[in-house]
Amino acid sequence: MISKENFEKFGFFQKEKFLSQDLLNKLNNFFDKSFENTDQNVIKHEYIHLQNFKVLNRVFHEIRKTILNKLKINLLLRNVWMQRSYNDTIKKDLPYIPHIDKKRYFKLFLYLNDIKLENGPFTVSINSDIKKNEILRKNWWIKNQEGANHHDDRHGLLINDNELVYQKICLPAGSIVGFDTNCPHYASSIDKNCYRNVLRFNFYSTFNNKFSFSFLKKKILTEFKKFRT
Ligand SMILES: [Fe+2]
Repeated sequence: MISKENFEKFGFFQKEKFLSQDLLNKLNNFFDKSFENTDQNVIKHEYIHLQNFKVLNRVFHEIRKTILNKLKINLLLRNVWMQRSYNDTIKKDLPYIPHIDKKRYFKLFLYLNDIKLENGPFTVSINSDIKKNEILRKNWWIKNQEGANHHDDRHGLLINDNELVYQKICLPAGSIVGFDTNCPHYASSIDKNCYRNVLRFNFYSTFNNKFSFSFLKKKILTEFKKFRT
């Protein structure tokens, strides 16, 4: 179930079988075709180009409508990543160890195949303090501006807290999991001969529905770009 209260409390939500089987099949066809002639494991589509991809655009609008309805937060899509992962793409570094992102985003994963423990489910903390993490994150930026962490260009700040409890989000194909990147998270490792196909929607968000001038500015500039392409 997606509820505003739970999202504010836990920093994430999951919805089993969000997509209809028909839309999921179309999406998987599109996904497979996109990877037909490439060795890459990630294909990125910027929001302004999304209108060129009918199925992807349709799925995005379903997701956007649901999130706006249920969570009532300001949302602006940055991009969509189509990502396939295998056992051999795993490393002992980010994103495979607990962290929060240095830049706070709302992210949503749509599973394209059934994700069980062996497929490396997205893993998220269920008892962390999002507000405390926001202070940690802001302090990192203050220090970073002083040049202290200048060399570290990784996307996350490592969270090493034995008190934290993690949940592996195992769900069938067509399900979604959305989260505030202030919530500690990591990608689990994938067993041999298993794989994980996901669509990853990356959003800007203020995590409330209050008016924000900088958010509005970002929104107008993005839409403007869209009409110029
Ligand atoms: Fe992350």
